[in-house]
Amino acid sequence: MERHGDRRTKAANPLHSAREWATIKPSEKRTGDFTMYTIGIDLGTSAVKLLLMGEGGEILNIASREYPIQFPRPGWSQQDPEDWWNAVLEGIPALLEGYDASQVRGIGAGGQMHGLVALDKDGAVLRPAILWNDGRTQKQVEYLNSTIGRETLSRRTANIAFAGFTAPKLLWMRENEPELFARIHRIMLPKDYINFRLTGVHATDYSDASGTLLLDVAHKRWSREMLDTCGMDETQLPRLHESWETVGSLLPGIAAKLGLRTDTTVCAGAGDNAAAAVGCGVVGGGRCNISLGTSGTVFITSDTFGADRHNALHAFAHADGGFHLMGCILSAASCNKWWQEGILGTCDYLGEEKNIDPRRLGRNSVYYLPYLMGERSPHNDPSARGAFTGLRMDTSRGDMTQAVLEGVAFAIRDCVEIARAQGVEIRSSRICGGGAKSPLWRTILANVLGIPLELPQTEQGPGYGGAMLAAVACGAYPSVKDCAGKLAKVRDVTEPEPSLTAAYEGRYRLWRKVYPALRTVFQDLSEM
Ligand code: XUL
Repeated sequence: MERHGDRRTKAANPLHSAREWATIKPSEKRTGDFTMYTIGIDLGTSAVKLLLMGEGGEILNIASREYPIQFPRPGWSQQDPEDWWNAVLEGIPALLEGYDASQVRGIGAGGQMHGLVALDKDGAVLRPAILWNDGRTQKQVEYLNSTIGRETLSRRTANIAFAGFTAPKLLWMRENEPELFARIHRIMLPKDYINFRLTGVHATDYSDASGTLLLDVAHKRWSREMLDTCGMDETQLPRLHESWETVGSLLPGIAAKLGLRTDTTVCAGAGDNAAAAVGCGVVGGGRCNISLGTSGTVFITSDTFGADRHNALHAFAHADGGFHLMGCILSAASCNKWWQEGILGTCDYLGEEKNIDPRRLGRNSVYYLPYLMGERSPHNDPSARGAFTGLRMDTSRGDMTQAVLEGVAFAIRDCVEIARAQGVEIRSSRICGGGAKSPLWRTILANVLGIPLELPQTEQGPGYGGAMLAAVACGAYPSVKDCAGKLAKVRDVTEPEPSLTAAYEGRYRLWRKVYPALRTVFQDLSEM
């Protein structure tokens, strides 16, 4: 494992757990003699967030555990799967403190997508997982999109290659680490590694598998042609499931360690965005969910398969049995974290926002590009970087914080515009992720997009969705749609105001000129 030059983020924080919400009022609880619990695992990029849900959807407890991320070179990002696993092993007992663990009947995970976890024949991890926001595969992406060709890729998988996707990472490994590549016995996605450690079963679900560029999304089967292109055999790939299907139950030793029953059901789970959509009630066709997490995503559902004809949006399977189109920006709430914690040195995000003069909304002269890790949608440019422009002598700290929030909102708007250009109408959206906690950010985004944003009772989209999928797997609900319809409730709606929407329209047009003006500068910078 190469550690040379690693720049690790701050050391893992101690476990913190809290009984924060009871999202469903007792009167709404399903009645019965016995309430079963399910555990939702949100395997994120900075931390795992665990959630204990009662059968009626009440959130009984949450616990989280942070882990480090390695940036061995600019634009590269990787994590040790053992860190994820240890966080889950420590987190579940803490989550269950004070609860009757024998009532836990199911576990469902939503995980960061696209990461390449490669294991040898003994089940040992061969190298750190290369993450969804890693940009090292520029050359392999170019090969896939130009030599194999975008049309061929699109016919095989409904998608083209982006740097974070799994297939280009396999090509990178084959080229750069041939000895390790030759020892690959199995590959899997991050949450599948957790399920593998829990159950010993090598499985995945369609939503997460969609982001590998190895799945024929329309037909929900591995693409033999893509496996050939990447030097893989189907035996090295996980078995495919719908998200709510059971993949196995806990290995006896693991059940004992966690204090859980051996017959605890582990369902296939979902990619974090699909799990978040379930957790927010964005299930069935014609709906939209926006996530402001480490990444930012626009997730548009459809009951039937359909691909973006320009492949700017990803065409993936959903965790409800249907499909979705998705735009993904690589740095969303992570820009705010970088700016506030890393640069300003504060953790009081909402306090820092108080420096923003509400009269300056829609009038800021500062513009910010959020491309700290390159950008996926719509530019597909790993060399892109962050930038502030429009700084003046009277620019304040508040103006710059505002520009960060606005820059992310404009980048989300770019994704929405691609969908709109294809005739997809987005009249409103749910919103989740850490960034959704900020009322100011929701106001900016609602006005930049010109649509109402509905805030669900919990921002814990992937964890809540994971727990819901597990409840379906356990038979507590007949379908994901039924479960989401009953449990996912809206807490607040942010409506756009016509004058502010109009002011942001002009700002967005101007902001859109900044990236093309800097593109060649970014390329030159990446060669230095
Ligand atoms: C989606 C994507 C990100 C990660 C973040 O395509 O890459 O949203 O799933 O965890």
